[in-house]
Amino acid sequence: MIHLESITSQEAMALENKYGAQNYHPLPVVLSRGEGVFVWDVEGRKYYDFLSAYSSLNQGHCHPKIVDALIEQSKRLTLTSRAFYNDMLGRYEKYATNYFKYDKMLPMNSGAEAVETAIKLCRKWAYEVKGIDINRAEIVVCENNFHGRTTTIISFSNDPVARKHFGPYTDGFIKIPYNNIEALEHVLSTNPNIAGFLVEPIQGEAGVYVPTEGYLKQAKALCETYNVLFIADEIQTGIARTGRQLATCGNCTCPNKDCSNTPDVKPDILVLGKALSGGLYPVSAVMSSNEIMNVIQPGNHGSTFGGNPVAAAVAMAALEVVKEEKLAENAYQLGELFRAEMNKYIANSNIVKLVRGKGLLNAIVINDAKDSDTAWNICLKLRDNGLLAKPTHGNMIRFAPPLVMTEEQLRDCVDIIIKTLKSFED
Ligand SMILES: Cc1ncc(COP(=O)(O)O)c(C=O)c1O
Repeated sequence: MIHLESITSQEAMALENKYGAQNYHPLPVVLSRGEGVFVWDVEGRKYYDFLSAYSSLNQGHCHPKIVDALIEQSKRLTLTSRAFYNDMLGRYEKYATNYFKYDKMLPMNSGAEAVETAIKLCRKWAYEVKGIDINRAEIVVCENNFHGRTTTIISFSNDPVARKHFGPYTDGFIKIPYNNIEALEHVLSTNPNIAGFLVEPIQGEAGVYVPTEGYLKQAKALCETYNVLFIADEIQTGIARTGRQLATCGNCTCPNKDCSNTPDVKPDILVLGKALSGGLYPVSAVMSSNEIMNVIQPGNHGSTFGGNPVAAAVAMAALEVVKEEKLAENAYQLGELFRAEMNKYIANSNIVKLVRGKGLLNAIVINDAKDSDTAWNICLKLRDNGLLAKPTHGNMIRFAPPLVMTEEQLRDCVDIIIKTLKSFED
């Protein structure tokens, strides 16, 4: 084992600041251990993790079953590249495609890579199946989207921080307002070169914007009418986070039998990442029908690590945990409880305007200017009170704990949040 000298929080932060690129602005807390819903800093202080690495740790920190899968597979075979077959990838592909009811999948590593994969797949399908003229295909995306940070993806972002000075940008994307079915209908009905519609079922990074009921279903129907692929980026919303297996899922596993509230949509291309591996390892995937996936031929796309045996073992274990521990049901129930408790508080609050979300993907909007540092200061105070969360876009705070949380723990977290917010009321 590598022996490391012990380190203080101050020293660890100083090292990152000195030797690391400053591409993040972390909350000042230095974590060294995690278990379930808890993390500990290097001085031994314990916190609730209320962010879950942006919804990657749905199964909780260091889930024993997923850790075992990683250790066992790491001792046997870690990487073959796709130059050869390995004895895990096919098993994983069968398991995952049965799980999500698709014909085929293409395995990658990070979320952004999976989105890039979906874009390439959609474009190739457009030329070879739909028959759009070469290099004319366009993909419709939504304003305030977040799909990652590669050069192509930031080309269709409207976040100035993500875009500025990274041009020239990639062509072939049309931006429309989110949650606006008329705008989608207009672009699809007037432009014959549309290949796909890329959408987040809930806009997570933008501040957990939940679209109006029926939006996704209507969007999918429009895509069918105009022979356009409906591409769902479920990297953040998928894997039980919003109280069902997928946020677009019609056959939800939640205990709410009245599924009239459930968007009943099956994306043509499904994009997954983050909690697909339970937060242990970078694993992402794109799934689709044979008709779509078969446009990809050897050499068209790939990644040295994509579909490696460790990723396959880890992802299968991570998906099993979601079912075995009924994480979708738990996220659904705890999400209802969380919003109910927050709404009770917000009714008489000056500092919080509203809470919104689904399952355990939620955000509160702070009653202050977008560029104020109130949300940041609240997060610092939450940290001091034993709970870690992070502001998103200035005056919002995202709350996304691991889905293995118990009701008692959630109530404890609500108490911490309310106690903290109270200290900011004037
Ligand atoms: C909806 C969505 N798409 C894509 C990504 C990018 O994933 P990654 O950071 O693994 O590249 C994220 C990350 O937050 C996301 O939330």
